Amino acid sequence: MPSNSLSHATLFLLLLTLNPTLAKNHHHHSPAAGRHAQKNATAIRLRQAYDALQSWKRVIYSDPRQLTSNWRGPDVCAYTGVFCAPHPNDTSITSTVAGIDLNHGDLAGFLPESLGLLSDLALLHLNSNRFCGVLPSSLANLSLLFELDLSNNRFVGPFPAVVLSLPSLHYLDLRFNEFEGPVPNQLFNNKLDAIFINNNRLTSVIPASLGSSSASVVVFANNRFSGCLPPSIAKFADTLEELLLINSSISGCLPVELGFLYKLRVLDVSQNDIVGEIPYSLAGLAHLEQLNLGHNRLTGAVPEGICALPNLVNFTFSYNFLCEEEGICGNLTARGVAYDDRRNCLPEKPRQRSKKECDAVKPVECVEGECGGRERHDGVGVSASSPPR
Ligand SMILES: *[C@@H]1O[C@H](CO)[C@@H](O)[C@H](O)[C@H]1NC(C)=O
Ligand SMILES: *[C@@H]1O[C@H](CO)[C@@H](O)[C@H](O)[C@H]1NC(C)=O
Ligand SMILES: *[C@@H]1O[C@H](CO)[C@@H](O)[C@H](O)[C@H]1NC(C)=O
Ligand SMILES: *[C@@H]1O[C@H](CO)[C@@H](O)[C@H](O)[C@H]1NC(C)=O
Ligand SMILES: *[C@@H]1O[C@H](CO)[C@@H](O)[C@H](O)[C@H]1NC(C)=O
Ligand SMILES: *[C@@H]1O[C@H](CO)[C@@H](O)[C@H](O)[C@H]1NC(C)=O
Repeated sequence: MPSNSLSHATLFLLLLTLNPTLAKNHHHHSPAAGRHAQKNATAIRLRQAYDALQSWKRVIYSDPRQLTSNWRGPDVCAYTGVFCAPHPNDTSITSTVAGIDLNHGDLAGFLPESLGLLSDLALLHLNSNRFCGVLPSSLANLSLLFELDLSNNRFVGPFPAVVLSLPSLHYLDLRFNEFEGPVPNQLFNNKLDAIFINNNRLTSVIPASLGSSSASVVVFANNRFSGCLPPSIAKFADTLEELLLINSSISGCLPVELGFLYKLRVLDVSQNDIVGEIPYSLAGLAHLEQLNLGHNRLTGAVPEGICALPNLVNFTFSYNFLCEEEGICGNLTARGVAYDDRRNCLPEKPRQRSKKECDAVKPVECVEGECGGRERHDGVGVSASSPPR
């Protein structure tokens, strides 16, 4: 139980302060490290790591798998989950803590400020634990950090701005936490290869003004975004291979610019409130393998050019209001493409919506270069902000 473990940790701290034997043990290593501190860069780094890991251990309140039970003594490189390596850039440091992997550790506690002392860390993997609270600002000191995986924990607070200041970061995984509020613009303006921020409580989608991104995988799914997918998505064109925006409260039309993402292999915008027609520009995505447009409010025809894409293996567009499958779209089986066209308004196909449901839907006019959609000039359209129900 957390409260029990908390008092354990507090007790341990007290004992350390009061008990002369423990205190002596604790100090036993200090003089040795201290003696070489001026000269031996390796010893300084390992001593700093010792301090960081000991203060971290003190705020780990539950460790059912006993992962930190051998986190004792100065040999930090022998601690479970801690990996040492020579410094990549400083030959005087022959061993330093380069990686921490406590994935699936079930540890509960938080990340203390002292983690900033692990300044040579390249990998920090804390997937599937019970760490909570906010990220310490001292993480900004981790200038070599390449991969940060904090997925499936209980971190809270606004999007952790500290991750934006990490110059070497390429892989960021914040999935399945409780981060809330807007996603900062800068997230898409740095060197990240992969961004996983799905299953949080984030409230804004890709910003309309965007510099250039280098991400190849972006997963936003299951957040509380709102608004439409802006034309600035085109800024991802040179790198983006997978875009997953499942169940992200996206409304409005799909921008024509989606078709500029020429490297895209996976596009999944299912379970949103997207209206209007499927942009024909998607027919330009020559590498596209998986396309999921299901569970939206799309109207009009399924363009033949998309069904003819050379690498398409799975095209899902079920649960929309599409009323026509152009050419080979009507027989994707013949192309060997897995598909799902159920619950649309396709006159020739089984398992479609009722005529009543289909007649009730009014098309939305999508305007190029604009986020969202417009009421049709003939007066029968509805605005994208109040899509047909
Ligand atoms: C420097 O410290 C490291 C780690 O404590 C030790 O292995 C190494 O022998 C020391 N080098 C010198 C020259 O003292
Ligand atoms: C390597 O060290 C040099 C000199 O200290 C520094 O300018 C450079 O940015 C460092 N490179 C990395 C990857 O840390
Ligand atoms: C940052 O790293 C350096 C070098 O290891 C260390 O001396 C310093 O105390 C660290 N700063 C913080 C805030 O942890
Ligand atoms: C969609 O996301 C919301 C949170 O934004 C979540 O509560 C809901 O369970 C998700 N739906 C599905 C089908 O995953
Ligand atoms: C096609 O994609 C849909 C949606 O992602 C998925 O549910 C389905 O299992 C896939 N079908 C095949 C045959 O891979
Ligand atoms: C689809 O194409 C296959 C193979 O070309 C053919 O056998 C089948 O009859 C076609 N189905 C329909 C509904 O046209």
